[in-house]
Parts: sequence; structure tokens; C-alpha cells
Amino acid sequence: MAHRKSFSGRDLGIDLGTANTLVYVRGEGIVLNEPSVVAVNAVGGEVISVGTDAKSTIGRTPSHVVAVRPLRDGVIADFDMAERMLAHFIRKVAGNRRRFSRPRVVVCVPAGITSVERRAVVEAATTAGARQVYLIDEPMAAAIGAGLPVSEPVGSMIVDIGGGTTEVAVISLGGIVTARSVRTAGDAIDAAIANYVKREHTLVIGERTAEEVKMAIGSAAPAGYWPDGLGLLDRELEEDLGAAADGPMDDASDAAGPRGGREADPESSVGLVTAVGSTPEGEQRCRIRGRDQVSGLPKTLELETAQIRHAINDPVEMIIDAVRQTLDSCPPEPAGDIMDHGIVLTGGGALLPGLDARLSSAFDIPVIVADSPLDCVAVGTGKCVENYEALRTVMDATPNSYLAYKG
Ligand SMILES: Nc1ncnc2c1ncn2[C@@H]1O[C@H](COP(=O)(O)OP(=O)(O)O)[C@@H](O)[C@H]1O
Ligand SMILES: [Mg+2]
Repeated sequence: MAHRKSFSGRDLGIDLGTANTLVYVRGEGIVLNEPSVVAVNAVGGEVISVGTDAKSTIGRTPSHVVAVRPLRDGVIADFDMAERMLAHFIRKVAGNRRRFSRPRVVVCVPAGITSVERRAVVEAATTAGARQVYLIDEPMAAAIGAGLPVSEPVGSMIVDIGGGTTEVAVISLGGIVTARSVRTAGDAIDAAIANYVKREHTLVIGERTAEEVKMAIGSAAPAGYWPDGLGLLDRELEEDLGAAADGPMDDASDAAGPRGGREADPESSVGLVTAVGSTPEGEQRCRIRGRDQVSGLPKTLELETAQIRHAINDPVEMIIDAVRQTLDSCPPEPAGDIMDHGIVLTGGGALLPGLDARLSSAFDIPVIVADSPLDCVAVGTGKCVENYEALRTVMDATPNSYLAYKG
């Protein structure tokens, strides 16, 4: 690899996501996949760690260390940190590869960011050594990565559910026909879980625990829920969502958790979520640890899937609503294509069980989860660097979705 002759062999595609950053190296594939997190010294301002190392410090940091997610809500919340994080990842990938410098870089950014923020990303990549920087919108990269026929005269719908934003777009002939970007995605689902356990069980948990609960037992629809025989299943879902509000709740205090929490920090110990089997209906249960809001003491709590489904219903509905609005604003012909070919889900949120079924039943349209949904955007930017000339035609056709700058 170090001896690769062609300059373009070192071109990079970067998925600068609100939750995760992935780097694709031309000819090699995805070589880096780390959380978009920077740990900073609040006093001196210096960067302590970036990526995986920094994420493990969230919620456990000593008071002078702050873990920052520079792109948190799909906008660049912290300009300077975003720049440093991007530079860190580019340097890390360049690492010991000789003559890696001055690559051409395609960066995928959330569609909602402003032109000032776009320029900041370009500057950051340029500062980090890029010869030329191209920006590509997340839904376009996701669609390319998911293998949709973006250049053909066929309407395709892509729904990319990330950490901070859900991006919905209808793509045809290499351009975006209509799109929505909403700030309701994985983080909002985590927050809904944390709010639920606080409201219903006076238990304070951190965002990492909430995310782990979502991944362990989260679901957007009961097992077996699918649009065939819609009416009955819809009623079942309603009952399920209503019943979960006052559903069973075991307050198994102080079971099996490793080490009692030693301080106020609700995430101060390892092993945030423990699986504890399933309910008779075949749904999952888990045990979590947090701090009781009333007593201030560490407490454990058992949760089951139906409760989480209830807890996250609002953000799930908001995601469904973004899809509805996009379908509403879609011209009839591409809409017809979508009815035939279905909606494709990408991003980590696509892994939430039952979300595909909920969307499918809401619109009576087939919904397909892309293969490796967390990688689609990086693979899409990768296809751009692998096949730069083909990308150019797509770029020319969509001047608003792509901004090219010369370094
Ligand atoms: N198995 C899973 N079930 C539900 N959500 C998941 C799962 N795996 C990852 N996620 C969520 O996906 C989001 C990250 O997705 P990603 O596409 O990397 O986001 P971004 O593009 O914004 O960086 C996070 O909110 C994470 O909690
Ligand atoms: Mg993404």
C-alpha cells in the first residue's frame, strides 16, 4: 500500500456524521470508523482524545474534561472542534503511508448545514492536507452507497436515519427531486428513553445507557407487525402502545450490576445494560443501572421492549412524518416509482427493529433496510472517489447538492 504509484490511490471519501465518522481510502475501502467525539480539557482547551477513546469518556469525565460532539444536531455546533476532529482522522489514516499527502477528498456532510459550515469543512480538510475538496449531501451519498439507480430516470426514496438528523430524499437522474432534513433521529430516541425512565421510574440515566437500551431491546413495532392484514395489526399496536404506559415494572433493586455506583455520575461504572432474557411474548428484557432521582442512590431497573416502544413513539412518529411530507411534495411520476420499488433505509437508525414495518404500514409501500446501513454513506463517498469521472456527471446535474472547491 505504501508503494502505490498513482496519486489517486490515496484519495479519500469521508462520512462526517453526527454520530460516527468513517474514512474510505481509494482502492482499500473503509479504513476508519470512529465516533464523532472530541474530549477536551475545559481549562486549557487542548484536545485530549478523539473518536473511540473520547466516546468512552462521555458521562465519566472528570470535571475538567469535556466530551464534545461537534456535529451533534446535524449542524456544526462546534466549528473549531469539527475542524480538529477531521484533521485528526485524516492524519490518522495518512499515518505511515508514504507520500499520502495532498489527496483529493470527498466529504459527506448533513444536508442541513449552512454554506458557512460547508466552507468550514472544506477549510478543515484543506488544512489537513487535501489538494481538492468536494462536498456531497448525505442522502445522495447514502443512495449511491445503498446501490440505488441514482442516475437513472427512476425515482428512488432514501431515508437516512443518523444520530442527529434524519434525511429523506427522492432522487432521480442524478439529482435530488425533493428532500427533508429533520433533527429527530437516534439521539432523540435515546433522549426519549432517558426521559421515560426518569418520568416513570425517577431513575436518572446517561445518554450512553439510553443508547445501549435502545440497541439491546429497542423496537418501533411489536414482533410480527407487518402491513399484511393491516387493520388488526394497527389495533394491536395501539393497544400495545397504550398498555405499555402502565405496564409491568420490576424494580429489582441492586441485582447483579457490577460494582455499585460510587458517585453522582450515573454512568460511572462499566456494563451499562445487562440482557435478562425475554418475555412470554418473545420480547426482550434488560436491566439498567442509574441514580434514583429521589434518594440520590444508585438503583437498578428492569425494562422490557413494550415499554421502550411506548417511550420512543414520539420521535418515531416524527421520522414517519418527515417521510410523509417528502412523499406529499413528490411529483406523481417518481412517487409511482417509489410505490413500485419501495423506500430504502440507511444510517444506524435503520437498525431499529420494526421501523421498516412501521413505515411500510404507514404508507403501504415496501420498505427495505440497506445492507450494512451504517456504512452506506461512506461506501457512497467511496464510490465517488473510486469513480470520479462518473461522479462528475452527477455533480454537474445537481449544482445545489454538490459544492466543489479548488484547494
Ligand atoms: N442496532 C441499532 N439499533 C438502533 N439504533 C442504532 C443501532 N446501531 C446504531 N444505532 C444508532 O444509529 C445512530 C448512528 O447512526 P449513523 O448513521 O452512524 O449516524 P451519523 O450519520 O449521524 O453519524 C446512533 O443514534 C445509534 O444509536
Ligand atoms: Mg450519516
